[in-house]
Amino acid sequence: MTANTVARFAVVGNPIAHSQSPFIHDAFSRQTGIALSYERLLAPLDGFEETITRFFSAGGRGLNVTVPFKQEAFGLARGNLSSRAARAAAVNTLWTHNGVLHGCNTDGAGLMADLHRLGYAPAGKRVLLLGAGGAARGAIPSLAEAKCRALHIANRTATRAAELAQSFSDLSDEHGVPITAGALRDIGGPWDIVINATSSSLDAATAFDITLDYAPGALAYDMAYGTEPTIFMRQASEQGAHTCADGLGMLVGQAAESFAIWHGVRPDPEPVLRALRARLSSNNDQAPDQ
Ligand code: ATR
Repeated sequence: MTANTVARFAVVGNPIAHSQSPFIHDAFSRQTGIALSYERLLAPLDGFEETITRFFSAGGRGLNVTVPFKQEAFGLARGNLSSRAARAAAVNTLWTHNGVLHGCNTDGAGLMADLHRLGYAPAGKRVLLLGAGGAARGAIPSLAEAKCRALHIANRTATRAAELAQSFSDLSDEHGVPITAGALRDIGGPWDIVINATSSSLDAATAFDITLDYAPGALAYDMAYGTEPTIFMRQASEQGAHTCADGLGMLVGQAAESFAIWHGVRPDPEPVLRALRARLSSNNDQAPDQ
């Protein structure tokens, strides 16, 4: 196969320079023996549709979508969405079939895979989800389907948390998982798993002004990641969380799910996660990212 005929993939966002997705997909390519090219694509804030149309028209096979375009991707693939994408109201994986755009959201599956890797399957656990934006929304269906014992959504703006919980009331009934919501200052506990889905860790100057009740053996999980433990992880450790983890494993997990959609082969995320961790540590000019 010549370079011109290798299947083309990319991650599209704005900004995009720090994305680790090319490294991850190149590693999956070597692991599985599936030839591909995977690049970073910077789309103008008002030019997402044009950018992806050009990419697919030129023969591109698949796109990962990141901030701030996941909702726009959802809108463009409407009518051809996986149930995960429809639930999340956001798309991070695009491909075309017979010239028609299709979309899926693999973030929730990536999170679940990482929780399992860490030994914290959510079944039967009391889960606290911090945040009520797109990242939180993407996690809720998977947590409910995994039959956690209870799911509480806490957010700086409490009304957003309440709206989010309300929008998943059918899922709550279907899986018998109580989904409640409230403000950051009124969280209760104890919690077996606490997931930070806010963007607070992305700003090094911002720290949560809350104390959480971690159950014995609890996990504190930050969807963000960086070269160092995030502020949320450091606070969780001080407040008694047994295990603290960042979202690098989720990043690799969602990439593995996207790879499986595009190529029909599910790669092993573990060695790629180790390699990516080593790469970040040796390259600590990287800002925390999601
Ligand atoms: P994303 O798609 O990454 O979830 P988003 O939709 O902008 O991004 O949501 C960001 C989330 O982080 C929100 O829950 C936000 O709280 P508000 O709804 O009150 O805005 C939360 N967030 C951002 N910075 C925060 C901070 N410093 N402390 C607490 N919550 C914060």
